[in-house]
Amino acid sequence: MTAEVGRPGAAAGQIRIFDTTLRDGEQAPGAGLTAAEKLEVARALARLDVDVIEAGFPASSPGDFDAVHRIAKETRGVAIAALARCRDGDPQRAVEAIRIAERAHLHVFIATSDIHLKHKLRMSREEALEAAVRWVRYGREALGRDAEVEFSAEDASRTDPEFLLQVCEAVVDAGATTVNIPDTVGYAIPSEFAALVGRVVDRVGSAAVVSVHCHNDLGLATANTLAAVQAGARQVEVTVNGLGERAGNASLEEVVMALRTRPTQFAGLGTRVQTEQLTNASRLVSYLTGFVVQPNKAIVGANAFAHESGIHQDGVIKNPLTYEIMTPQSVGLSGSTLSIGKLSGRRGLQTKLRELGFDLEGDALDTVYRQTIALADAKKDVTDADLVALVGQRAAEVTDGIELEAWNVTSSHGGRSTGTVSLCVGDDARQAEATGNGPVDALFRAVDEALEPIVGWRQVLDEYEIRAVTAGEDAQGTTLVRCHRSTDRRLPPATVTGHGLSTNIIESSLEAYITAANKLRAASPRAVAAGSGDGSSTEPETIVADRLP
Ligand code: KIV
Ligand code: ZN
Repeated sequence: MTAEVGRPGAAAGQIRIFDTTLRDGEQAPGAGLTAAEKLEVARALARLDVDVIEAGFPASSPGDFDAVHRIAKETRGVAIAALARCRDGDPQRAVEAIRIAERAHLHVFIATSDIHLKHKLRMSREEALEAAVRWVRYGREALGRDAEVEFSAEDASRTDPEFLLQVCEAVVDAGATTVNIPDTVGYAIPSEFAALVGRVVDRVGSAAVVSVHCHNDLGLATANTLAAVQAGARQVEVTVNGLGERAGNASLEEVVMALRTRPTQFAGLGTRVQTEQLTNASRLVSYLTGFVVQPNKAIVGANAFAHESGIHQDGVIKNPLTYEIMTPQSVGLSGSTLSIGKLSGRRGLQTKLRELGFDLEGDALDTVYRQTIALADAKKDVTDADLVALVGQRAAEVTDGIELEAWNVTSSHGGRSTGTVSLCVGDDARQAEATGNGPVDALFRAVDEALEPIVGWRQVLDEYEIRAVTAGEDAQGTTLVRCHRSTDRRLPPATVTGHGLSTNIIESSLEAYITAANKLRAASPRAVAAGSGDGSSTEPETIVADRLP
């Protein structure tokens, strides 16, 4: 039995793509995004034409609530999902965040495996079942009959199958329109997982969409997802670049391109995804999260379409079909460069950005235009990757009052470096000088000297990475820093990333460090209270105690 039911987004012959980059993906340690960054990723996902964007977990913090609410309000043409545990408070918060969406999709979950019930939740099976039914029913009533209510049985692949089937049946009777079977710890093997999903499809597939959510702990997330589709699953939960907890989730680009490249293996089922947008979405997510895509990563890795050996090159020149099972163009690798100079127009840039999937106008377009012209002055070719980085950088900018006015550094072979910085913090002008092992170290120390008396904590650098956006001597350097603030019991823990982008690597490093300083400042209780759009977030940032899977 298959799961082609007449539900929104589960059109016959189609696999529904449920993207959880902004929820499960963002749970990857160190991948945290600001609301503005999440919105930029949501726009990229909407351009990809995914069916559902899981925007976050609103009960986890006021910041995440605001981000989900903003995405629900501003993103059109796609369903917006929010995650909630089956416990009082969570589903209400999720409903509040997504009610405004064009299509709201509530996602409630509870663990069903004995391991989780006994050791994590300390609940009996009956209690878990009761909670699942209660909160599915709540969602159905709160959102109305047209909304999607999804239930996930966390750790389903290690759950007693009979109990899993019982839970699935009960939540569908209570109004769930989608039943999700997560392989939470990436434990399943494709044939085994397909058999389990097949049983769920047989039991509830005529009344609800059966979905799967696979983690990659054994490197099998994509394989398990595809096996589940062959067994009748009609929604797949995936993330861009396979981002996610631990070894990550099933990768959107791999699953989508497998379905597209091998339709006969999947009874001709397809997706709505605009695959030409895959490369841009991957670059944007990588840039904003600071998670570099490995060069040999399928579909979006830098080497995915590179042919090194002579025999392969010869074959591809004679006929690309010899070694390419899909074209680079089909995933958005046009390889085009945009020659932009002082005389290039704003409209030309806007058209090019549209081709890349970014719809910019007004001030946003002006800013990127100014930066592009400045970049064209500094380097020969402005490439697609440069433009994606510039747009990403705009989204990653956080201004919470700290601005860099000027810097200077002296450095010599074998000696220490001395750096000075001038900063503005609100109306306060600050200058500081410091020495360090190298020019970047000296300047970062000078920033610390200038800021500490004002902000009241010290910024601690955990990670520093610099990369060229494109090849060539004149390439832009993109810097990523990860920082936390020195322990201060009055403040919640916070780790943030900061990005910088410039053809001058010292400038790019400082920009990244100052962005991180602004983010740390914005994450303080003062800023959370002041920054909440609807006045609902007057409490300090709270972090949920039990981490999500
Ligand atoms: O991995 C998992 O089980 C999850 C659920 C919340 C769907 O992320
Ligand atoms: Zn997960």
